[in-house]
Amino acid sequence: MHQPDHVNSYALATEILTVDPADPQPEIIRRAAAVIASGGLVAFPTETVYGLGADATRGEAVAAIYAAKGRPPTNPLIVHVASAEDAQRVAADWPAVAQQLCERFWPGPLTLVLQRSEAIPAIVAGGGLTVAVRAPAHPVAQALIRACGVPIAAPSANRSNRVSPTRAEHVLKHLSGRIHLVLDGGPTPGGIESTVLDVTCIPPRLLRPGPIAPKDLEPIVGKVDTRPSRILGLPSSATQADVALPSPGMLPRHYAPRMPLRIAPGTGRRQVVRLVGQGMKVGWLPFHPYASVPGVITLPMPKDPAAYASLLYAALHTMEDAEVDAIVVAAPPETEEWLGVRDRLLRAASPPGDDGA
Ligand code: TXA
Ligand code: MG
Repeated sequence: MHQPDHVNSYALATEILTVDPADPQPEIIRRAAAVIASGGLVAFPTETVYGLGADATRGEAVAAIYAAKGRPPTNPLIVHVASAEDAQRVAADWPAVAQQLCERFWPGPLTLVLQRSEAIPAIVAGGGLTVAVRAPAHPVAQALIRACGVPIAAPSANRSNRVSPTRAEHVLKHLSGRIHLVLDGGPTPGGIESTVLDVTCIPPRLLRPGPIAPKDLEPIVGKVDTRPSRILGLPSSATQADVALPSPGMLPRHYAPRMPLRIAPGTGRRQVVRLVGQGMKVGWLPFHPYASVPGVITLPMPKDPAAYASLLYAALHTMEDAEVDAIVVAAPPETEEWLGVRDRLLRAASPPGDDGA
């Protein structure tokens, strides 16, 4: 029914190297850096999700990222650096607020959108004048960036518009045969992608909610503009190619599993029972306590938003692999600390066709 992931795969033999996530082996990092230096693609763990890395200063290496992911060329990539000093080399302007945010949140899951310097080719930025930058906190990502000695362009290591990877297996499911190397550092701790904040405007604008909430940012930046991007209001005839996207993460459908996902009030049990009654194979993500439904693949989720985020994508991958017909998710609370999780769930629940692609 669904197109398998290996259709259209390239002929590359994807190498997999297991790496110690706390203390990465230097010889493995050197091997990965050599692949990057030759213009190749390396998937590696960060504290959020796995990234698909290439040398951000080389246009042809970055073009290979877009090709491997099947990503539209207008969707810009995040540039990963080791420090605030390195970030200043990829940015044409370094506002005081950027310095303050780095001092407070880097290394960590905060991406800053800045004016792009000429060190970074336009293809990284989807043709735009800005660049998104972050310094990841994961030891493997840090070691790799340092060993490469160049900024690393890395989107999430999934096929475009599909569920992001939090384990090496998820990367291989989408990209085996399309990339040169995967560094398997086990499950990523964070689970949803970094917060993206545009600091080229006043007030700074939240482009993608993530692990760092607006209330964490506001002591430093003042009021954050959290209005949805105008992209959400685009007429359905507009395509990604028509506009320079302020943030492709703002497209309604993104991070989506291959089957319909419904966000249900309460435990979601009523929906589950109804779909089972229609003969469907159902996957269910309730909170505790819940009353089980026979024959349903059930993954109870934690009530803490960070713990929930760390398991969400793995749960969606599990449901995909089980080939359920539909996924029912108990609606999370509507508080700010759940903003990142709710954003990902709403996008996953958005019907196909909403992505303008
Ligand atoms: O946690 C993360 O950020 C992960 C890991 C690998 O670091 N990366 C990630 O990359 O999520 P990706 O390509 O899947 O998402 C990049 C997001 C886009 O959706 C967009 O929101 C934003 O970063 N972005 C990148 N460049 C931008 C730019 N120049 N202007 C505005 N937004 C940009
Ligand atoms: Mg992504």
